[in-house]
Amino acid sequence: MITLSVIKADIGGYVGHSSSHPLLIEKGHECMEKAKRDKLLVDFHVTNCGDDLQLIMTHERGEEDEAIHKLAWDTFLECTKVAKELKLHGAGQDLLSDAFSGNVKGMGPGVAEMEFEERGSEPIIIFMADKTSSGAWNFPLYKIFADPFNTIGLVIAENMHGGFSFEIHDVKEHKKINLNAPEEIYDMLLFMGAPGRYAVKAVYHRGSGEIASVSSTQRLSMMAGRYVGKDDPVCIVRSQGEFPAVGEVLEPFTNPILVEGWMRGSHHGPFMPVAVRESNPTRFDGPPRVIAAGFQLSGGKLVGPRDMFDDPSFDKARRIAGEIADYMRSHGPFEPHRLPLEEMEYTTMPQVIKKLEKRFTDLE
Ligand code: 13P
Ligand code: 13P
Ligand code: MG
Ligand code: MG
Repeated sequence: MITLSVIKADIGGYVGHSSSHPLLIEKGHECMEKAKRDKLLVDFHVTNCGDDLQLIMTHERGEEDEAIHKLAWDTFLECTKVAKELKLHGAGQDLLSDAFSGNVKGMGPGVAEMEFEERGSEPIIIFMADKTSSGAWNFPLYKIFADPFNTIGLVIAENMHGGFSFEIHDVKEHKKINLNAPEEIYDMLLFMGAPGRYAVKAVYHRGSGEIASVSSTQRLSMMAGRYVGKDDPVCIVRSQGEFPAVGEVLEPFTNPILVEGWMRGSHHGPFMPVAVRESNPTRFDGPPRVIAAGFQLSGGKLVGPRDMFDDPSFDKARRIAGEIADYMRSHGPFEPHRLPLEEMEYTTMPQVIKKLEKRFTDLE
């Protein structure tokens, strides 16, 4: 069995929240290289999506392994030192705790992990996003694993015709529910259609029970009790064979849907699919970005990455995202560009409102 762990954190932006400094990525690479030499890791890849540092690791220790989580945590601490030397913006932003206690969950970094038996061919796509939050995967995951207008394999491939099961988390109440596609799609959409509260954590192939997709679902602001940036999520998807083909996995991103995030984590904006080199959100700190790193696994080795959105067939999605960005920006501080009040509770806005409380008087 092989475990694929993607653990990420924003430990400093360059410049502002727009990107990552090359020295941070270099330091991350150095820490990972050492762990590979020490045989803790089988393989690794370090990259960034905007200001988020991404540690992609393979190993044989299973999910939630203390040594792997500690490696990621220590790597983020080492990189934070570099970020502090360079006085990068928000150095150590996502590290909410001072002391590691066995698992990075609940400490700030985002985590997506899956353990599985590597197949004869194991194509994997790792989606990484900046300037948005975990619910952003709901729409694409529904399209990939439940919508036959996106994934023709659900109709014509015998090994997918039985459908997929979705594990949906209520990120506010800390509850979960499993629902099956296709019979329960109306029930599923009841929750998945409200991505600020419900996020798909995992998807399973119903016939085999095999893990198909896992994403990070934490809400940083709810953990910290104050605004500390958005959660900038990741999502792993297995492809081909009994899973959707690579093209079926990428297809939903041709539609730049509106997601939460963007400037100060307080706006709706289009989810723009870009090449890794273009994941530097600068326009109004955005618009929100998604990158896709493709790998073939071979004995746990990460053969890749291929930069999957570095393709002219996504140019139109990027252009439309640019037009939507203009339109949404034209609303300025007005909803629905600005997030609804309930979501703004997790930003700095309540402090401003508090100052004005005394100015309110009762209506006659
Ligand atoms: P190949 O014949 O190139 O493997 O493609 C099969 C497929 O399913 C493409 O979507
Ligand atoms: P990050 O969550 O990517 O750090 O962005 C925070 C922000 O406020 C951007 O305007
Ligand atoms: Mg940041
Ligand atoms: Mg970020």
